[in-house]
Amino acid sequence: MRKIVLGTAMAAFLAAAPGLAQAACALSGDAAEGAKVSKACTSCHVFEAGKPSRPTGPNLHDVMGRGIGEQADYTRYSEAATAAKGKVTWDEAKIADYVKDPKEFLKKANGKEMKHGMNFKLSDATKAKQVAAFLTAIKGKAECP
Ligand code: HEC
Repeated sequence: MRKIVLGTAMAAFLAAAPGLAQAACALSGDAAEGAKVSKACTSCHVFEAGKPSRPTGPNLHDVMGRGIGEQADYTRYSEAATAAKGKVTWDEAKIADYVKDPKEFLKKANGKEMKHGMNFKLSDATKAKQVAAFLTAIKGKAECP
């Protein structure tokens, strides 16, 4: 008897699930861990689709796969980020490298040291990889993060 009641409840839940899946941001594995790591970025960045960039950093919702320095509403890219335009297309490995040491990353990209803008380092390689996976997972998904 009890089983039947639970079964009915489950069926009702599953019937509602397609609607729920659309509304909620479903992340798993590295991307889900990366969502936690991304809290370290929100003092400067926003991740929500369509939300204006803050003066402290570009919106990162669609950064994956884009060129460096190309968030249209962010007008404060540094000399180093501007000089690297056309030389860097963001993928997971590059974003992980960048967040580990932005100054060093841009020095390599430009072949010389220039004034750069992100005064933050995420030196933990695992966390850097996870936050990059998170950026892949949220790209183009209005419901994420
Ligand atoms: C102290 C503020 C600050 C924090 C914290 C911060 N960032 Fe940034 N970030 C910036 C700024 C400013 C820029 C623009 C850099 C430039 O112009 O040189 C930037 C640029 C970026 C870019 C390149 C964006 C583009 O449009 O090319 C990525 C990717 C990025 N940050 C990822 C992260 C991630 C992931 C975290 C957290 C782990 C993080 N940042 C934490 C300030 C910050």
